[in-house]
Amino acid sequence: MTEAKLTMDAPFEHSLLDDAPKPRVGTPLDRIEGPLKVSGRARYAAEHFLPDMAYGVLVRAPFGSGTVTRLDADAARAMPGVIAVIDSDLLIRNGGDFGGSAAPPQGVRDVVYFGQPIALAVADSFEHARAAALAVRVDHEARPGIYDLEAALDRAEPPTDDIFGLFLIHTEQGDVETAIAQADTVIDEVWTTPSHSHAAMEPHAAVAEWDGQRLTLQASYQSPVVSRDQLATALGLDATQIRILSPYVGGGFGGKLGLMPEAAAAAIAARELGRPVKVVMARQTVFEATGRRPATHQRLRLGADSDGRLTAIAHETITDQLEGETFFEPAGIATHVLYAAPNRVVDHKVARVNKLLGVSMRAPGEAVGQLSLECAMDELAERLGIDPVELRLRNEPDRHPELDIPFSSRSLADCLRTGAERFGWSNRSVVPASRREGEWLIGHGMAASVRGNLFGPSQARVRIGADGRITIETEMTDIGTGTYTILAQIAADLLGVAMSDVDVRLGDTDLPTSAGSGGSWGATTAGSAVYAACLELRDLLADAAGVPVAEARFADGMLTARGQARTLGDLAGAGMAVDGSVAPGQSNGAFSQASYGAHFCEVRVNATTGETRVARWSSVLAAGRILNPKTATSQAIGGIVFGIGAALTEEQVHDSRSGKVVNRDLGEYHVPVHADIPDIDVLFLDERDHAANPLLAKGVGELGVCGAGAAVANAIYNATGVRIRDFPCTLDKLL
Ligand code: MOS
Repeated sequence: MTEAKLTMDAPFEHSLLDDAPKPRVGTPLDRIEGPLKVSGRARYAAEHFLPDMAYGVLVRAPFGSGTVTRLDADAARAMPGVIAVIDSDLLIRNGGDFGGSAAPPQGVRDVVYFGQPIALAVADSFEHARAAALAVRVDHEARPGIYDLEAALDRAEPPTDDIFGLFLIHTEQGDVETAIAQADTVIDEVWTTPSHSHAAMEPHAAVAEWDGQRLTLQASYQSPVVSRDQLATALGLDATQIRILSPYVGGGFGGKLGLMPEAAAAAIAARELGRPVKVVMARQTVFEATGRRPATHQRLRLGADSDGRLTAIAHETITDQLEGETFFEPAGIATHVLYAAPNRVVDHKVARVNKLLGVSMRAPGEAVGQLSLECAMDELAERLGIDPVELRLRNEPDRHPELDIPFSSRSLADCLRTGAERFGWSNRSVVPASRREGEWLIGHGMAASVRGNLFGPSQARVRIGADGRITIETEMTDIGTGTYTILAQIAADLLGVAMSDVDVRLGDTDLPTSAGSGGSWGATTAGSAVYAACLELRDLLADAAGVPVAEARFADGMLTARGQARTLGDLAGAGMAVDGSVAPGQSNGAFSQASYGAHFCEVRVNATTGETRVARWSSVLAAGRILNPKTATSQAIGGIVFGIGAALTEEQVHDSRSGKVVNRDLGEYHVPVHADIPDIDVLFLDERDHAANPLLAKGVGELGVCGAGAAVANAIYNATGVRIRDFPCTLDKLL
């Protein structure tokens, strides 16, 4: 096997993608796996049926804090079709996130949140297992719990670990207190955001089957290798003994980044019973026993001089999490980078609560942090009498304001100007509550958007068969984001073949390891690995043709050079394969890398009912080269819809007496539906990032959600004159 390595060392002066005679990258191609999905042939985890398979249903704690003193499963075991009731400590093993260890400190009888798995009922059918799970009797001794972040604020402490060193727990520069005291204008307010649920369409599901000492798990994970390693740790196995397959994933948003209880449950039950076991979470179980975006309490202070130049930014955030868990919501992460100001503090603290595990959710940190920062900027603009777009332009930094390193690319100013133009921002009424049509108050709002561009090691194998067909293989997943299509586009352009000549295999831990789908890095990392492999394949093909690769033209399935044209299949002989791998390099510390954007929206608020409708939307985004404008636009729209949900409806409500999730289904946890969303206009600027990677692309998936909710809240203020700082902006807060 030939290996090809690329390290992210800037600059990437030239991308071979720009040489493609008939470029597919940059064109809005349909998803290549789309027909499989719409015809039901793409098989998701729960759709695997194995001979002799048993069904498991999790038994979960009906209290929020305490000890199980007796778990009486005698009646359950005697029920029709019941095979076993398992109460292994492994059942609660839960990796949670990239940083998670899959080894929570407590045993299965020690309950730290309402709905925590405490046993697994296994039967010959799902219905029998569910009936048995309900028949398990649980006695417990209660312990006082803490179910509310606001009640736990005074216990908040710094996080125990800065996840990968990325989140910057505490940064401090200059003298914020003096600067605030001397500022002409000061904003000093508290914003709060509730727990959110990822609410992916496909519930968590796992089908486990052991073949001797090896476990095969059909599951739904964004990063199968991460989940595999966490499961191996939990079960005391070597990673090579586990294979996880996630070829299709019906959404993740962070809720499927790390191992969740269904996978460990299926694995241990299948091992114990010597037969395949399927565990599919009901929607309520997903809401109660997987993960959530932590709630936040954010004090944000801005100081500015009379010209609207920020003199101080202080963003002090408190989020909530289970005891002993390392992940924290880095709500100040965007504040490190978005605006210039000589005096600055960004701080994160965590209060320990008895609510289900806090994990990453789409744009962890930025999504909720920009709800406060971008609303605070709106308040400051109004106080100063400066247009909010102009205020942002006046505080555009030349370099990273804390780290004093250059930006790899930053088109925020362009996004703001182009967006304002496109939306017709100058037509808005500056005076709040001054536009009305019948009973509808009309308002306009905007916000900036930023999401960090991250890079992790990733590998992909690219093969050429004797028939000239190209196969791409990587453990990377497609969680609805377009990975299958994008990787095929890159290979098609670099090797000069048709899209229909490229096969893509994803989501299998036996394939070369990727960085997985998370953090908006999936397309750029896996895509760069494919790039590295194709670069080497071009060399091998040129060698086989006996021509210098610099003179070779790759098009129409042929290599043409020096008057000769040969098919790739012919040149590949019995076949060629290259393992491409990419790793972070000097680019990843030397440059501040992020995608930027600007959102503009119109809302209509009913003067009688307080109902808010989003009526019009324009976003201008810049994320380097856009590999596929169709899938990227879908990502942006999806993110914006998430942002609208965070602004208006989404709130995981925890009963203040038990932590129980009160609204644990999609009927009660309100994500926006089609009727809630207008046409969303998204424009990507034509940007190239020559420091990020050889694709010259940056992350897209989480950019849309960042700032989107703040644009809505700012528009609500413009419509009504009411500032809501306690998200979501439900109608009761407007009346
Ligand atoms: Mo994302 S929250 O890293 O899936």
